Amino acid sequence: MLETNAAPAPLDLTGRALFPHRHLLSIADLKPWEIRFLLDEAEQWVRANRGHARKHDDRLAGMTQINAFFENSTRTLLSFEIAGKRLGADVVNMAAATSSLKKGETLIDTAMTLNAMYADVIVIRHGSSGAVRLIADKVDCPVLNAGDGWHQHPTQALLDALTIRRRKGSFEGLVVAICGDVLHSRVARSNMLCLAALGAQVRAVAPPTLMPPEVEMLGATPFHRMDAGLDGADVVMMLRLQNERMDGAFIPSPREYHMLYGLTPERLALAKPDALVMHPGPMNRGVEISSSVADHPERSAITEQVEMGVAMRMACLDVLTRGARGVEGWS
Ligand code: NCD
Repeated sequence: MLETNAAPAPLDLTGRALFPHRHLLSIADLKPWEIRFLLDEAEQWVRANRGHARKHDDRLAGMTQINAFFENSTRTLLSFEIAGKRLGADVVNMAAATSSLKKGETLIDTAMTLNAMYADVIVIRHGSSGAVRLIADKVDCPVLNAGDGWHQHPTQALLDALTIRRRKGSFEGLVVAICGDVLHSRVARSNMLCLAALGAQVRAVAPPTLMPPEVEMLGATPFHRMDAGLDGADVVMMLRLQNERMDGAFIPSPREYHMLYGLTPERLALAKPDALVMHPGPMNRGVEISSSVADHPERSAITEQVEMGVAMRMACLDVLTRGARGVEGWS
C-alpha cells in the first residue's frame, strides 16, 4: 500500500491542488505535503513510462525547455531531456564547455541571454552553491535546480523518496543510513532534509573528515562508524567519494576507505535482512560499494532510481509550468 497524502494540498475553486512555488531550488523550501504531492504526481508517469511503446504526452507542446548544465552529468541531464521530450516540449541542451562562460561572460549575463530567448522552463546545474538561485531571480520562467555545488539536488532527493516509498510503502519510522562522502554531497543534503520531513529516522554515516558540521540541523544523526550506522537500517544510501570537490587529502587511500566505509556484503548484513541499497550514481565500484552489493537483484534499487528519475522530473516539469500553460488555479 502506498502512503497517501496525509496533509492534502489546498484546492482552488475548481478542485485542483495548488503547488505554491515558481521554482524548484531546494528541498528546504518545501513543506512535507508539497513533497508528498510531487511523489503522488510522479506515480502517473511511472505507469505511463512503463506501459506504452508510445510514451508521448503533449501537455508541454510548444514550450521551450533549456537545460543549462555547467557541470558534467549523465543521468540527470539525460533524464531531464527525456522527461521534457515525453511531455512534448522543445528541449535544448546548452553545452557549457563550448558556451560563452568560457569567454568570461558573467552568470547574470548568461541568465539574461537565456531569458531573452523566451524559455518556458530552465533546468540548471552549476558548480557553485547558490548559482541556480541567482539565475532564478533574474529570469521570467520557472527554474529547476539540477544540482548546485555542495548545496542542493532537489529532484534527486525526490526521486530517491519515490523509490523508497514504492519499495517500503511509507517513511514513518524508517531508518535510512546515508553513508560516505556526506561533506561534499548535495545529494546527501537534499536527502537528509527530504527524508526527515517525511518522517524517516535519518543517519549520516561518514569519517570525521567527511562529516559536515550541519548534519543535525538538516535532520540527521551523525555516526562515524559503519557498524553502528548500518545497525538495523531499512535503507542504505551510498555516496560517491567526490574527489573533484576535495582540495586536500580527506582519506588515507581509496583502499583503506573501502576497508572502513565500503558497502560489502558482510557490512550490509548489519542492516535489516530486507534493507534496500541505493546510490545516486556514478558509482566507484570497489571504493564506496562492492559490485556484488551494487548488482544484487533484490536488494539494489540503483537502476530503479534512474527509472524514477525520469518520472519525477516529468512531474516537476509539469507542475511548475502549469501556471504558464494557463491551467486554472495555477500562477
Ligand atoms: C550526483 C551529483 O551530481 O550530485 N549524481 C547525480 O546527480 N546522479 C552525485 C555524484 O556526482 O556523486
